[in-house]
Amino acid sequence: MSTELPDTTAEETTTTESTTTTGNTTTRPAEQEVTVPVLPAADWSNPLRDARDRRLPRIAGPSGLVIFGVTGDLSRKKLMPAVYDLANRGLLPPGFSLVGFARRDWEDQDFAQVVHDAVREHARTPFREEVWQQLVEGMRFIPGDFDDDTAFKQLRSAVEELDASRGTSGNYAFYLSVPPKFFPKVVRQLKKHGLAKAPGGSWRRAVIEKPFGRDLRSARELNTIVHDVFEPDQVFRIDHYLGKETVQNILALRFANQMYEPIWNRSYVDHVQITMAEDIGIGGRAGYYDGIGAARDVIQNHLLQLMALTAMEEPAAFDAESLLMEKLKVLRAVKLPEDIGAHTVRGQYAPAWQGGEQVRGYLEEDGIDPASTTDTYAAIKLNVDNRRWAGVPFYLRTGKRLGRRVTEIAVVFQRAPHSPFDSTATEELGQNAIVIRVQPDEGMTVRFGSKVPGTSMEIRDVTMDFAYGESFTESSPEAYERLILDVLLGDANLFPRHQEVEESWKILDPIEEHWATHGRPAQYASGSWGPGEADEMLARDGRSWRRP
Ligand code: BG6
Repeated sequence: MSTELPDTTAEETTTTESTTTTGNTTTRPAEQEVTVPVLPAADWSNPLRDARDRRLPRIAGPSGLVIFGVTGDLSRKKLMPAVYDLANRGLLPPGFSLVGFARRDWEDQDFAQVVHDAVREHARTPFREEVWQQLVEGMRFIPGDFDDDTAFKQLRSAVEELDASRGTSGNYAFYLSVPPKFFPKVVRQLKKHGLAKAPGGSWRRAVIEKPFGRDLRSARELNTIVHDVFEPDQVFRIDHYLGKETVQNILALRFANQMYEPIWNRSYVDHVQITMAEDIGIGGRAGYYDGIGAARDVIQNHLLQLMALTAMEEPAAFDAESLLMEKLKVLRAVKLPEDIGAHTVRGQYAPAWQGGEQVRGYLEEDGIDPASTTDTYAAIKLNVDNRRWAGVPFYLRTGKRLGRRVTEIAVVFQRAPHSPFDSTATEELGQNAIVIRVQPDEGMTVRFGSKVPGTSMEIRDVTMDFAYGESFTESSPEAYERLILDVLLGDANLFPRHQEVEESWKILDPIEEHWATHGRPAQYASGSWGPGEADEMLARDGRSWRRP
């Protein structure tokens, strides 16, 4: 299927409908007859006919997706439902094929049943039998482990068979939803069995889930292995935060508007707080999490990416290369505080009552070493040493079993340099702030002072809100829908490159090394906002954490 618009050679009359959305009311003007002038297909000047028009749905061409690790949580909860949602939205080609690879004694129909159950339970869009039927015809399962040459030979035959029966044209993305220790094996097997190299005119891509190593050294090793098999533009590293609508909106907010950018710098900003709080514990992920911890799990990737998008300069264009350049400049400008001990805090959740339920502490979780020093909470202070941000601290924090699930970026402004009011009038006035609410209540809040109605002058904080749910009728796609579609389209804008991954490890490694040789994480009660040490860390700077 092509993403091109049909070539129109004759003048035609068409009906257009425009929708205006304000707050939560939607007004649709009466339908109008509009005459669209005849234009040659290659005339890019008419937005109605521009095949590069970014508002048009982007539909993947002939292709298939091979998932290694289909029995895992990520695959069931996110990947398979995302594939279905894309199909349901008409964004996959009719012959799209899905191949599962895992060590299970399954036939194609057993795999299809697993996908079916995953879709029924986790898909975002309603189940439609006709969409499912079309999808299921392209499902194949290859049983085997990653050392098994016979299984990879079977995979190759399956791919060739699908090319012939479903018209996938040799275009395949290989999704490595497996623990990192298996990356080298899978990648080498793909090479050995001729699957990594695209037959003429087609493409092959590798999709790699985080963690990309556990420090700079291992990330570089991993990179060497991957790049021995795939060219850099064939590799798509997933940081699913970049697939979230609200994260992409950071760029829209900053660079499509005029009113924020002039104040987005050290002259006006006091500090920035980036919070990713989760109310859940580690669940069944002990095997992955213990020894990794909160900082490696999410600060190295999600939070540093959020920081880079918040702090970067305007890219020359909205393309992968320009975005990479600007994000890299920010990451390279990061300076750690000299006294790492005083400006970082790590913690571990302790047993407590949370939401009416008695929950276990981290050290009592199944599969966790009772002497583990793994952090489930981490807070760090970073400086971005460049002209725009010198002297403005960026505080990043994340934790499991905190008070509430919330991710936000708060840009907190300096106080007005002078006030004509009595100090009593502004006693309850805080600092102005712009808060990008990444999730779950997606939107943005602007906080500023306003006079309290009455005869005296009293000024208090008020907020102005933008909420996705009220301003747009469309619901946001899941991050994985967006990212899988981008992989199939070869659009690399929302995927971190290995240079970013390495720069991020350079920031985190000294912190991890410090922690490894300095005591144990502080304990914090489940359901709280983390260890008291984190509050003290900000208090020493004369600041406090937001309580979202
Ligand atoms: C993953 C982390 O990358 O992000 C998990 O490995 C975390 O530990 C998850 O729970 C959170 O994702 P989201 O999209 O629910 O905020």
